Amino acid sequence: MVHMENRPKVTVVGTGMVGGTVAQLMAQRDYVDIVMIDIIEGMPQGKALDLRETGPVMGYDSYILGSNDYADAADSDIVVITSGVPRKPGMSRDDLLKVNKGILTAVTGEIAKVAPNAILIVVSNPLDAMCHVAFDVSGFPRERVLGMAGVLDSARFRSFIAEELDVSIEDVSAFVLGGHGDTMVPLARYSTVAGIPLPDLMDEETIARLQTRTANGGAEVVALLKTGSAYYAPAASVCEMIDSILLDKKRILPTSVYLQGEYGVENLYVGVPVKLGKNGLEKVIEIKLTDDEAEALKRSADAVQDLVTAMANLE
Ligand code: 2OP
Repeated sequence: MVHMENRPKVTVVGTGMVGGTVAQLMAQRDYVDIVMIDIIEGMPQGKALDLRETGPVMGYDSYILGSNDYADAADSDIVVITSGVPRKPGMSRDDLLKVNKGILTAVTGEIAKVAPNAILIVVSNPLDAMCHVAFDVSGFPRERVLGMAGVLDSARFRSFIAEELDVSIEDVSAFVLGGHGDTMVPLARYSTVAGIPLPDLMDEETIARLQTRTANGGAEVVALLKTGSAYYAPAASVCEMIDSILLDKKRILPTSVYLQGEYGVENLYVGVPVKLGKNGLEKVIEIKLTDDEAEALKRSADAVQDLVTAMANLE
């Protein structure tokens, strides 16, 4: 535990595949200490021990603690919430909403007590709705309650663009707005290859195909895995956000944040480009949308609002 007082502290709640991979990737970065928390006894302890034993081979000194006790998350700088269940056969979306709302309420309540100054990064689904739960229960300012989705969605779009054009992913940047669902809005105009906008490089039909594949990106992986959902890309996306915050890099990353009038959206979590630095959300970047783009964003925000309303009516 000696190391744990000296480095920024990242807690991961929920030590399934996403949580475990976040811990692994953060350990390899070698500038934080990590607490892994889960209600399942032995699981966080086992994964943490395994990761500590990886240190000598990979050359990191990060300390990784596994625990079933929220007290060990005390004074975390960042808490990543991955808890929740995926939809099981026979379960409706409302059932999933209800179960995960209960889980997020419990987790956030515990975390807010022991780590009142932490920045929360929510990963649980349905993402934007779960951000509302974390925001409401924690009482934290919107600057410190963020949802990870846009980095993942734009990473998927980037990888499809790079494959289609047979170019390096290094030269591809992409832009995805909206909720983390079928209505997300991968913006072609602001997606570029070495600075060249996508519409100058591909026909409309190809762009539409890649946009649809991006919106279905999570489901495509689920259909292949059959027993769970994606975790490598989601975990890597979380780590990119953590780096921007803890290293105060001020990157502009698509993030689900509580909008208060930006993009014409009031009091709702929706994915938009934001500046992430040591204070968490430091600025919402507003860009001018075409009528079609604004309409697509509105549809996506409406879909999030429907979920939030359904969740409020669950009581
Ligand atoms: C994903 O997009 C399931 O939200 C998860 O992979």
